Amino acid sequence: MIVPQPGFGPGKVILLGEHAVVYGHPALAAPLEWGVVARPLLSDRTSLVVPDEIRGKSRAALKRAFAVAAKRCGSPPVTLFLESDLPVSMGLGSSAAVGVACARSLLLSAGRSAEPEEVARIALEMEKEFHGTPSGVDHTTSAVGQLIEFRRKPGAPAGKARVVSSPKPLKVVIALAGTRPSTRVTVQGLRERAARWPERYERIFQEIGRVALEGARSVEAGDLDALGDAMNVNQGLLSALQLSSSSIEEMVQRLRAAGALGAKLTGAGGDGGAVIGLFANPKRALATLRRQGVHCFDSQVAGPRAK
Ligand code: PMV
Repeated sequence: MIVPQPGFGPGKVILLGEHAVVYGHPALAAPLEWGVVARPLLSDRTSLVVPDEIRGKSRAALKRAFAVAAKRCGSPPVTLFLESDLPVSMGLGSSAAVGVACARSLLLSAGRSAEPEEVARIALEMEKEFHGTPSGVDHTTSAVGQLIEFRRKPGAPAGKARVVSSPKPLKVVIALAGTRPSTRVTVQGLRERAARWPERYERIFQEIGRVALEGARSVEAGDLDALGDAMNVNQGLLSALQLSSSSIEEMVQRLRAAGALGAKLTGAGGDGGAVIGLFANPKRALATLRRQGVHCFDSQVAGPRAK
């Protein structure tokens, strides 16, 4: 018997290591408290109601991705409706969250178990339709739903995640710094520069990977100052890779002036998108930034939560 079951996929922030992760280096990423819910209704076939705001190429990609997922999940006769709290194309993993929410709902509605590994496998198939050759960090973080150190060795079909536990609450402010190109375009631009000057770029990728591992150890040791410093250094390295912009840099400075222990772009960057700041207590910074007209939110991404 088919019992339609909803599925949730959280958005994500990359605390350390974006882009270098595409070249096989480690990254540190965490789920947000908000994301995408897929709500199913019984139907005569498997289908997805694509929200009106998803247009053009993204709409076509989502339809293709959903068809792949439906087949992998045994095509339960349900129609899925999506509800999202995530800004789209800002670096917060909205497409991965859609994939995870759909995979969970389809698997559960088909009477199958929705273990994170299986959800991640299906969401990866969907991500390939959106991004071409994703590292897998976005959908893995969303499927695991915990702070992870993620690495996909070159040539490996999928990445590996290690859950990183934080003895302290890890809280970030996410500020939006305007629109940005698609991840695919930014990743491709970097790929061209890295192919032209491979040694120089590989040195920077390696350094980013080391900073990500150091950051993971700082989290485990409860050393938020050291994690913040790793984020600041990572921002400098992303800037060296020409992935930052004046609007990103300005937002990074605003977050630091508001007391961030560290601040950097998150996700593909390029020309705008989301910038994150690490705060021991983000509420006052959030109020200050909002008074300045900054579009921002806060989220606890790891560690013990207040009851
Ligand atoms: O799509 P975004 O902005 O969340 O970026 C994903 C992270 C990248 O490292 C830039 C790409 C990837 O496949 O890992």
